[in-house]
Amino acid sequence: MSQEKSNRAGGVIRRYAALLPVSGATPVVTLAEGDTPLVRAPRLAAAVGGGLDLYLKCEGLNPTGSFKDRGMTVAVSKALERGARVVVCASTGNTSASAAAYAARAGLRCVVLIPEGNVALGKLAQALMCGATTLQVRGNFDVALALVRQLGESDAVEVVNSINPARLEGQKTAAFEICDALGDAPDYHFLPVGNAGNITAYWKGYREYHAEGQSDTLPRMMGFQAAGAAPLVDGAPVARPDTVASAIRIGNPASWQGARAALDESGGHIGKVTDAEILEAYKLAASTEGVFVEPASAAALAGLIQCRREGRIEAGSIVAVTLTGHGLKDPDAAVQHAPVQPVIVEADLAAVKAAMGI
Ligand code: F0G
Repeated sequence: MSQEKSNRAGGVIRRYAALLPVSGATPVVTLAEGDTPLVRAPRLAAAVGGGLDLYLKCEGLNPTGSFKDRGMTVAVSKALERGARVVVCASTGNTSASAAAYAARAGLRCVVLIPEGNVALGKLAQALMCGATTLQVRGNFDVALALVRQLGESDAVEVVNSINPARLEGQKTAAFEICDALGDAPDYHFLPVGNAGNITAYWKGYREYHAEGQSDTLPRMMGFQAAGAAPLVDGAPVARPDTVASAIRIGNPASWQGARAALDESGGHIGKVTDAEILEAYKLAASTEGVFVEPASAAALAGLIQCRREGRIEAGSIVAVTLTGHGLKDPDAAVQHAPVQPVIVEADLAAVKAAMGI
């Protein structure tokens, strides 16, 4: 096997060790995350007005089905290195699924605090299957994160939310991969924004690659929040965030400053999209390209549609959209909003043909 191939097989730490806070002494806890597909999307590009070179970074193809794994491999490896025994996080679901998996892999205990009743079924199933102590907090994500902050770091406990800098270090590797695949940064990079760690991490990654001479350009960062949970757009925390995109139902993002810096320094834009726009984009990605994402991921696509409508993206632009989580995470949303529903037929050929309309 070539060096390149073995590096890829080893996950983001081995692949990008020189640009991560690790050393030869760091025990690498990996599930071979990263190296996710960057899929060219001409049919979707046409559906959003045409004239764009559109790429989808399919982060749902990570081991636990979301981008969180890139950060979790670094956070859990560093926790193990310093001798922590327990990893703790607050989560709308994906962070808890990832923490539970990487903690299991490392032989560490995992405790997750999730908002009661507001975590998609697939994510809850993941945390439970990996044996995480799963605390359903009577409150929203912001309340759960405040509790985790109070638990704080101790010798035994490592907080693996994105307030842990190791998380953002790992997540920045997605920007490296996009530059590696395209040969340079895209003109625009769209992504959904919740706790605002990922937009912060991508901007860090793009800047570092640029500084290293690995890319010549920098993208404009284009963040999108759900209209019912848009503190960065509205300029103030939202006490009762609400959206169909449960992953980004967050009213007071931890990385507020990082997101602002990414937007301002890149000449980017932050906007908000309604649940109706999110659901339309959710269906469009699946129906035009066969790419099934969770609703929060569709917020970025809804943002692209909005930007095209508003004339913010000139024809000929190279556009990357991060699709943060797999559609299978949230089967309830899919079945509820799918464009078609199953049809029951008798088990005979005539009935099947009739149902097919042939
Ligand atoms: N998309 C998905 C699928 C997410 O799970 C999240 C965040 C985001 C987008 C937003 O990313 O927070 O870095 O701005 N999920 C966190 C969690 C909050 O607990 O799983 P962000």
